[in-house]
Amino acid sequence: VVITDKSVGDWAAVYVAKKINEFKPTADRPFVLGLPTGGTPLAMYKRLIQMNKDGIVSFENVVTFNMDEYVGLTPDNDQSYHYYMHTNFFDHIDIKKENINILDGTAKDYKAECERYEEKIKSYGGIHLFLGGIGPDGHIAFNEPGSSLSSRTRDKDLTMDTIIANSRFFGGDINKVPKLALTVGVGTILDAKEVLIMVTGANKARALHHGIEEGVNHMWTISALQLHRHGIIVSDEAACAEL
Ligand code: GLP
Repeated sequence: VVITDKSVGDWAAVYVAKKINEFKPTADRPFVLGLPTGGTPLAMYKRLIQMNKDGIVSFENVVTFNMDEYVGLTPDNDQSYHYYMHTNFFDHIDIKKENINILDGTAKDYKAECERYEEKIKSYGGIHLFLGGIGPDGHIAFNEPGSSLSSRTRDKDLTMDTIIANSRFFGGDINKVPKLALTVGVGTILDAKEVLIMVTGANKARALHHGIEEGVNHMWTISALQLHRHGIIVSDEAACAEL
């Protein structure tokens, strides 16, 4: 879906609300939503908050799983994805605290934490809709170039490209950006019944070209979406410049 104005976030928000409402979730049968961070989804979160306030969608019976978290950042660190999610979304909607799942970047045993996360997703019967964005190098969540396309939740070293790209959130200082993250795998994302990826801006055009027009390749992890039966990319015109 190519959006010609600045409303990629609005399109995604309306889609999410429609999916939740069609599912008619209950406490025993919740809708399971995978969520991203970054600059791109902010507009979607803003719109969903408004829709929640207006009574168009409720998150009361929605369970969420975030994609990733930096290792070593405590939840109160304003650059942690815990902090991002609470301040930009969860604090403003009717979601139940116990239904929020985010990888614990302070866990001592990464492997156990990642296994726990996979098990918890499984206990809900999987994710109904996984939302995401991409990095300029085509990574989804923190599945950096070279990640196995069947990878599961694990710890991942960030590439220098990602550290540089994300340093804008750390006062431009690459030394302040964590070098390691916990992330769902490409396989974890592909297991979702549906995957919706938002892509905006000219700096993502090359990644979108590789992801859509080249073959499936673990050096451009977004290309794995080609293997999904219900994969949707919502992008603006700038991001489509190389298609
Ligand atoms: C980080 C996140 C990704 C996100 C990417 C792009 O690397 N781990 O999930 O897609 O940033 O972020 P932005 O939308 O700010 O360009």
